[in-house]
Amino acid sequence: MKSSTYIPFLDLKAINQRYEPQLSRSALEVVQEGQYLEGAQTRQFEQEFGAFVGTQHVLAVSNGTNALELILRGYRELGLLQPTDEILVPANTFIATLLAIVNQGMVPVPVDAELPTFLPDLRSLQRSVGGKTKALVLVHLYGRTAYSEAIADWAKSRGLLLIEDNAQAAGSRWGNKKTGNLGHAAAHSFYPTKNLGALGDAGAVTTNDPELAGCVRALAHYGSTEKHRYAYTGFNFRMDEIQAAALRVKLPHLDRDNQNRAVLAARYLEQIRHPDLLLPGPEYRPFHHTWHLFTVLTKKRDSLRAFLAEQGIETALHYPRPPHRQPAFASLLQGYRLPVTEKIHQQTLSLPLHPALSAEQQEYIIDRINRW
Ligand SMILES: Cc1ncc(COP(=O)(O)O)c(C=O)c1O
Repeated sequence: MKSSTYIPFLDLKAINQRYEPQLSRSALEVVQEGQYLEGAQTRQFEQEFGAFVGTQHVLAVSNGTNALELILRGYRELGLLQPTDEILVPANTFIATLLAIVNQGMVPVPVDAELPTFLPDLRSLQRSVGGKTKALVLVHLYGRTAYSEAIADWAKSRGLLLIEDNAQAAGSRWGNKKTGNLGHAAAHSFYPTKNLGALGDAGAVTTNDPELAGCVRALAHYGSTEKHRYAYTGFNFRMDEIQAAALRVKLPHLDRDNQNRAVLAARYLEQIRHPDLLLPGPEYRPFHHTWHLFTVLTKKRDSLRAFLAEQGIETALHYPRPPHRQPAFASLLQGYRLPVTEKIHQQTLSLPLHPALSAEQQEYIIDRINRW
């Protein structure tokens, strides 16, 4: 590749170009149909996503953060969670996971991560649990399945609700079961950059619990259980028809896209050779990995990032400052020492990895990293 090369971290235009002209056609159909919310596209997407994830209920909603909030609020309405209950949550996650918890009045208890999975393990969860803990949010971070039978058994023995944050892991599995169907309820994000990305904000709740499903559906629709009857002080957290239509075009290709991601990740894992880099662990079956992000750690992160930028390679930080160090959580989470999470945030660098990245582009990235 020439030195004028520019490889963006993520090329959404190229990613979505692969679904044309179906994407544009589906948007046009919605415009012409004249039903922009709560229509056939949304109901059909719910059925198709349910068949994909394997749950009995899917509620299409406005985004992943709202999906998580709806689950927590739903459990409050059903009397299974109360304000001030403590919820275990990975310290190494996107801030939205914690925002949903505090915005429902509950208390997040951040649990430190392990390497090279970047996820909490059973022992760290056991160290963090307390008498007020009522639920556990498992975040399948960067695409790696965070669930294990041991974690589920332990959560069950303590009577904890097991909630999945599947924002980053659409299509991941544990054994033959999909993420989103591993706990009591799951939140999904279809933010445009995600493995299954819409053309704007969108999300979903999946569950096999009919009571929670009914409650979440009402909550997302102003709290309405039937026309002109409001059982809850709910929200307007619905998915647009145009997003459902776009997701229906892309969902049938998700497994193939994830397969492409796996090929790219395997190549990075095999071919990056540098003494100053710690690579993420491979896929440890039965824990699947859909490689939403490929993050490496290095003490010289800023130098590597600047070097790659000079070579025309854009990288990203997921994330430079953990939630418990954010001003928003200055009082609520002060005093937490989470050394592995802090190390990750100081040293992390995400390399380009998406289904429209070519083998030639990737070879160039690997070559430049190895020369650094
Ligand atoms: C781990 C995690 N949880 C929650 C969210 C929130 O999803 P959304 O942006 O759709 O609200 C995101 C993504 O943005 C995420 O990465």
